[in-house]
Amino acid sequence: MNQWSPSSWRSKPILQQPTYPDQAALNRVETELAKYPPLVFAAEIRDLKSQLANVAQENAFLLQGGDCAESFNQFNAPKIRDTFKTLLQMAVVLTFSGQCPIVKVARMAGQYAKPRSADMETINGVSLPSYRGDIINGFDFTPEARIPDPQRMLTAYNQSAATLNLLRAFAQGGLADLHEVNRWNMSFVDANPLKDQYKSMADQIHQSLLFMETCGITAKNTPAISETSLFTSHEALLLSYEEALTRKDTLTGLWYDCSAHMVWIGERTRQLDHAHIEYFKGINNPVGIKVGPTMDPEELIRLIDAVNPENEPGRLTLITRMGADKLPEKLPALVRKVKEEGKQVVWSSDPMHGNTFSASSGYKTRNFDAILSELRGFFAVHKAEGTYAGGIHLEMTGQHVTECTGGAYDISDDDLSTAYQTQCDPRLNADQVLEMAFLISESLKDAR
Ligand code: PEP
Ligand code: CO
Repeated sequence: MNQWSPSSWRSKPILQQPTYPDQAALNRVETELAKYPPLVFAAEIRDLKSQLANVAQENAFLLQGGDCAESFNQFNAPKIRDTFKTLLQMAVVLTFSGQCPIVKVARMAGQYAKPRSADMETINGVSLPSYRGDIINGFDFTPEARIPDPQRMLTAYNQSAATLNLLRAFAQGGLADLHEVNRWNMSFVDANPLKDQYKSMADQIHQSLLFMETCGITAKNTPAISETSLFTSHEALLLSYEEALTRKDTLTGLWYDCSAHMVWIGERTRQLDHAHIEYFKGINNPVGIKVGPTMDPEELIRLIDAVNPENEPGRLTLITRMGADKLPEKLPALVRKVKEEGKQVVWSSDPMHGNTFSASSGYKTRNFDAILSELRGFFAVHKAEGTYAGGIHLEMTGQHVTECTGGAYDISDDDLSTAYQTQCDPRLNADQVLEMAFLISESLKDAR
């Protein structure tokens, strides 16, 4: 057997990678990046792993969410702040209903590389290489923009560093204060049919805080009231970038991918004998694998054994993305097999990627009810199988975009053009996220 190293993936077949026109330029960037400081620290990665072990042992719930693709253009503080707030607000609703800790993981500070179903994109008879995410090429539909440029890796690193810096400040610096909860996302509260439910929850939190203060438990002596931990994650698709940020921890001698706390492998690149699985075998981060409707139970066990041979709880999260219609038929056999084999995993539901379609307006969209239906189906299957529905994985933003149809504001096909801003897949907007949190709280309460 070959010895694992951060570069051993290079001898395996690989899919979904760019072909850089200038190999020497690529090598220069890789060498440069390998000298840069890690974006996250091994001890933080271990902290997330132990929190995910808690989820695997049914004592916590995972909330993972953020953009489908972060973008260099839309890189600004309000956008980071609003996604942070929306995630936290959803977490508060889930904490309240699930009565358990919520492990918060953002698809942020590195979610720049996209797998594509087609290598080429055709508009009005013109075909160009597909956009593969800002870390690889440009979104503009011009031949120049679509040429893969390794310099983009350095921009992605710098923007990830700045994003992380702000997220750390928000998490520790007061924005996560529970006293502020009822001031978040007021547009939802004012106009939404679920307004009373939300206000009543905010009020109960407020009363609990007052009670705790009376007992002497304040933000001053109990940081958990005003601080939180938010971890980062992305799809580790572009292995040149991930390899350059793979570092050996001096404390433990173990390898970690220090580009994010958690990384996952997408549905299109999880072949057992390919490069992505090889790379994941050697890093000690908590990792995710996307599991689509074509997954076979035996194949899933082989994948689990490949990336988590020690059966360590918290190491592996299976992120199912079946589609609302296929889930009831496909998920039970997988869940049963994993349970039978005694594999320690976190089961998380991505209700987004199996429910994408093109609206008559031409926009790629997802319907709120289909997303909700996949989530409810996920909870129902785990309930029936006696397993734990441990998390959800959403493409979402804190901005008021119109990318997914439906929800309380009933966004229609015709509305999609109003604020369709995503560079890749359609995201739930701030109102839709909060509404989703309320609508699944009963299922979560039940699962607990
Ligand atoms: C994604 O999470 O953005 C993604 C591409 O998912 P999948 O690999 O499940 O299609
Ligand atoms: Co996506």
